[in-house]
Amino acid sequence: MGTDIGDSTVFACPHCTMPLHLSQHEARCENNHLFDRSRHGYINLVVGGRLAATTTSGDTAESLRSRREFFATGSYAPIASALADALREIPGAVLDVGCGEGYYLTHISATEKYGIDISKKAVEMASKLLPDAHFAVASAFRLPIVDHSCAAVYSVFAPHSFEEYARVLKPGGTWATVTPGPFHLQQMRPKRDKSIDEREERRSEPPTQAQHAERIQFELELSPSSANNLFYMTPLAWQTAADASPTAQVSVDVWVSSGTSF
Ligand SMILES: C[S@@+](CC[C@H](N)C(=O)[O-])C[C@H]1O[C@@H](n2cnc3c(N)ncnc32)[C@H](O)[C@@H]1O
Ligand SMILES: [Zn+2]
Repeated sequence: MGTDIGDSTVFACPHCTMPLHLSQHEARCENNHLFDRSRHGYINLVVGGRLAATTTSGDTAESLRSRREFFATGSYAPIASALADALREIPGAVLDVGCGEGYYLTHISATEKYGIDISKKAVEMASKLLPDAHFAVASAFRLPIVDHSCAAVYSVFAPHSFEEYARVLKPGGTWATVTPGPFHLQQMRPKRDKSIDEREERRSEPPTQAQHAERIQFELELSPSSANNLFYMTPLAWQTAADASPTAQVSVDVWVSSGTSF
């Protein structure tokens, strides 16, 4: 917990972009910008230490608890292993953008693991799950990461920026995304008219930047509590109309996309 990794060549000062030196209780750049480390070892690299009123504060404790319980059933293990296959053995630092409570990082093989999320509670849970990895509260659109410092970067059902991916990846580095396919969790989605469905379908394609895209599709038969957990860990619970609801039978349909540098 809270290991001293000396001069981090990955985390960067959000004020001046210089590399951060991490010691047990703090992180500091050579311009003396200082950030406290929590007792679980993560740092808050949101500029000013707090989020602008317009910014989402990310996932809540309740949805993170649902996600942790759902992952424990192993239902999403095929997604985690397809992601691990796309990234293979990583010879250096891997960064999980929008890491949530840390599940996917536990499946990735890399010499150094980093994660960022805008939700402080997510980062706290991930730090406890992976004491040897390094976590920061930060925005996916302004990664506090040194240019060309990562051997791999990925994001699972979370906001990400391909400009930021290109900036943080080493030459020859690998990126990956996991994004919903057209039938993902369709039984739990609200009923909509055809034109919205067609728009959704276009949005459910792999990113145009992908050099490889593998479609993973399988059916889940869930217990009532797992169905509830799945529903409450997704945006379905708050984003959609009242006719969306947890169901026992669910289709999983995702794209695991990847590519090499840019
Ligand atoms: C649907 S969850 C996925 C979490 C994790 N990747 C997983 O699949 O278990 C989306 C995550 O993105 C985070 N998030 C939302 N907006 C963000 C942003 N602008 N920057 C970084 N993380 C963000 C949320 O806090 C949440 O943990
Ligand atoms: Zn600085």
